[in-house]
Amino acid sequence: MALIAHISDLHLGSLTFQEDLIKKAVNEINMMGPDVTIVTGDITENGYYMEFEKAARYLDEIDSPLLVVPGNHDARHVGDECFGEVIKNRFGALDLKDCGIKVIGLDSTEPDLDYGKVGRAQHNWMVMELLKAQEENLFKIIALHHHIIPVPRTGRERNVLSDAGDILQSMIDGNANLVLSGHKHMPHVWMMEKTAFATAGTVSSLKLRGRTFTSFNTINVTEEGIEIVLRGADGKKRCLAKYENTCR
Ligand SMILES: [Fe+2]
Ligand SMILES: [Fe+2]
Repeated sequence: MALIAHISDLHLGSLTFQEDLIKKAVNEINMMGPDVTIVTGDITENGYYMEFEKAARYLDEIDSPLLVVPGNHDARHVGDECFGEVIKNRFGALDLKDCGIKVIGLDSTEPDLDYGKVGRAQHNWMVMELLKAQEENLFKIIALHHHIIPVPRTGRERNVLSDAGDILQSMIDGNANLVLSGHKHMPHVWMMEKTAFATAGTVSSLKLRGRTFTSFNTINVTEEGIEIVLRGADGKKRCLAKYENTCR
């Protein structure tokens, strides 16, 4: 039914940023031809205007429709303004009715802080968008930088959304099919009720934990369910999770 590419945490501007890795990932994504590519933040290291400009040059090379949300690093140094100017809106929805998908992008950042929060206004907007998508029988994807459920093997928990409980409840109640996040640089999938919560690793920085490696995810959506695949920079594919009966 649909193929989704999910990349995250480019960290352009960091000493650990590897240009060859983002170029390789973009090339792979274009070869696969997904229906949409979703970028869950930390595209820059410091939120500097020039970093956004350079990051945009890589992202502009992606052929598919694109939705980008900011991360905590993008919200540093008034980066939220630069994000809005160079990239696009910090939150918004993308309707892909041809492939039966709606993507709801949330800005979970607070200027110059690492922790995440969706906030009441955006929360209400998300609930309305989920409702509309449900009425239209669309596959509902929510994208935000911060994780909602703690991710294993990431050490001491300190950056889960401060309003995680309320947001989680509304995502479950609103029958969200897939929630995509980044931030921890650790690929993982949780399934709760009928909603899959998938975090992506870093696509192009060497800010890695333990023996993890740079990667991005793809999600294959069919009438039967979803399969989430980890695509490492070594070219190998690994199935992260496969669920049946998750759709709509
Ligand atoms: Fe990051
Ligand atoms: Fe982050």
